Formats: sequence, C-alpha cells, structure tokens
Amino acid sequence: MAFQRRIFSGIQPSGNLHLGNYLGAVRNWVALQNEFECIFCMVDMHAITVWQDPAELTRSTRELAAAMIASGIDPQKNILFNQSQNPDHASLAWIFNCVARMGWMNRMTQFKEKAGKDRENVSLGLFAYPALMAADILAYKATHVPVGEDQKQHLELTRDIAQKFNHDYGRELFPLTEPMIFGTATRVMSLRDGSKKMSKSDASDQSRINLTDTADAIADKIKRAKTDPEALPDTVEGLEGRPEAQNLMGIYAALSDKTLEQAVADCAGKGFAEFKKMLTDVSVSVLGPITAEMRRLMADPAYVDGILRDGGEKARALSAPILREVYDAVGFLRP
Ligand code: AMP
Ligand code: TRP
Repeated sequence: MAFQRRIFSGIQPSGNLHLGNYLGAVRNWVALQNEFECIFCMVDMHAITVWQDPAELTRSTRELAAAMIASGIDPQKNILFNQSQNPDHASLAWIFNCVARMGWMNRMTQFKEKAGKDRENVSLGLFAYPALMAADILAYKATHVPVGEDQKQHLELTRDIAQKFNHDYGRELFPLTEPMIFGTATRVMSLRDGSKKMSKSDASDQSRINLTDTADAIADKIKRAKTDPEALPDTVEGLEGRPEAQNLMGIYAALSDKTLEQAVADCAGKGFAEFKKMLTDVSVSVLGPITAEMRRLMADPAYVDGILRDGGEKARALSAPILREVYDAVGFLRP
C-alpha cells in the first residue's frame, strides 16, 4: 500500500537550547517545511521519563516553541505542538507496549546509557520510551523522520513495531518509516573540549553557545574557546588531529552557509585571534535575530500557548481517524 509522504519529528523540551540543537536539528527542519507536510512535536511526555521540575518543564516547552518559530518554522504551514496535548500518543503507546517484546527493548542502547548502573531505580517510562516514540510517529502514519544518528535504533524499533502490528492484526495499517539523516548535519562539539559533543547537560556554560545568549556572551565564549597553537591550515586535511580547530571551522562553515573547503580557503594561514573575530561576527549575525525574536515570543506566553493549542488540535484531527482504525484492528469498542 502506498502511504502519503509525511514528516514527523520530535525534540525534548529540556532546556538550554544551544548551537548544536540549532545546526544539528532545527535548521534542517526549517529547510524541510517548504517541501513537505511536517509535524513538529515537543515531546514533554518523553521529557518526564527522567525527573523534570514542573515549572521548568513549562518554561522549557515555551522556550523550545519560541526557538523553533524564531528559527523560521512557520506554525501556519506546519503542525507545531507539545505531545501531551494529543492524548492519542499515549493511547497508541499503550497498544505498542503490548506489541513490542521485552527482548527488543532490552537491546536499546540509549536506555542502557541513560540507566547506567541504576537500572532498578529508573522509571518504567524510560524503558518504554521507544514505544512512545513509535506511537508519536505512527499516530500520523508518518513515512519519514529526520533525526540524528543516535536515534536510528529507535527508528528501527518503530519499523519492527509497525511490522509486527501489521502482521499480527492482518492489515497494512502502518508504514515502515524511514529515517532522514542529514548528510550535511553538523555535529557541534564543546567549546572547551573538541572531543565532546556540545550538550545541554555539560556543567560548564562556557562549553556551549545557548540560543538565549547575548552578543557579548557569544563573543566572550568564542574568545575563550579552546584552540591549539598553530595557524589555520589551507586544506581540510590539515584540520585532522586538531579537534578544536576542526570544530570551530565546522561551525564557521555551517553558519556562513559555506562548504568546509570554502571556509578553510577563507581562513587559510590566519591565526585564531583573527579567525575568532570572523566566527563571532557570523555567529552574532545569524543567532542575534533568532535570539531577539525568541525573547519577544517568550515575553508573550499566551501567544505561544495559543500556537501550541492550535497545533495540538490540528494534530489530533490527523491522528483521530488513524486511532479509530487501530481500535477496530485490535478489537476495541470505540468510544
Ligand atoms: P538533545 O538536546 O540531545 O535532546 O537533541 C535534540 C536534537 O539536537 C537532536 O536532533 C540532536 O541530534 C541534536 N543535537 C544535540 N546536540 C547536538 C550537537 N552537539 N551537534 C549536533 N546536533 C546536536
Ligand atoms: N527520542 C528523540 C530524541 O531524543 C525525541 C523524539 C521523541 C523523537 N519522539 C520522536 C524524534 C519521534 C523523532 C520522532 O532526540
């Protein structure tokens, strides 16, 4: 059966949105919205698989919505909402909990990493996390999901769940969703250590450029970013073995919409002091308007909440008929 092409992606509202989130995720989504029907979901239900302070969760959800809108995601053209607004995700997730096998879930590397040695003490939700993710996607019969490499395994599980459901209930109800891994997606590393990913959970705020940073804060963080003593190379190969130079050059290229080759050619032979000024200029010119728009939106929470509510209604209008099909397939009497 042919399924209409539909894109779904989710992102956790867990605070401290940074340049890595922007270059690795949000910016790619902005590019997609012109070509496809897109559903962008802030997964607050996934967020509470680990403890979240309630007031902070509300704030982070609004901040994420503001960041997405400020980055250019058009809430008229796309569906932008927070997961908990549409109860169909949770309903379908329960059904998927009964389709997925313990053995499949036990293999999930993200769970193993997040649970660590404390397995007995993590929430049941953390273990079931990938079944809820499958429900997010399949509640809309989404065919494509833009994600980072780290989420590929969860998408394979989504396909396994779809396949087993279709098989067990004898109908081609769900598509086998494909990942969309962006070839050009930039992996942004910490400003303090070029071998570590830029991350919201890094204890040092100096390690990341937050989307809420002022121009002065950005300039200061770049100025203090770790480097090495050499001048910049004249070839991409020359960046090898120089993780900090590689990272800063990658950021410079991504923010100035250049290939790495072009960016390296621009900066060949320059010292870090000069290069850091160029990097600061392009960072402030790209992020400045986004930050300003985010601030404006954050000052008007009623407006942001209204957008998310509208999005939630549009989302539910799409998922409701799909859930009816699922109920029929499973043998549930419909409400
Ligand atoms: P997280 O903040 O880990 O929940 O990730 C949210 C999204 O941002 C995911 O699509 C990640 O792949 C992306 N992302 C997070 N950190 C980075 C980074 N340092 N570089 C590139 N992409 C990132
Ligand atoms: N697990 C994803 C992450 O941590 C977030 C997510 C939840 C998601 N549901 C999704 C991503 C559905 C894509 C599709 O990044």
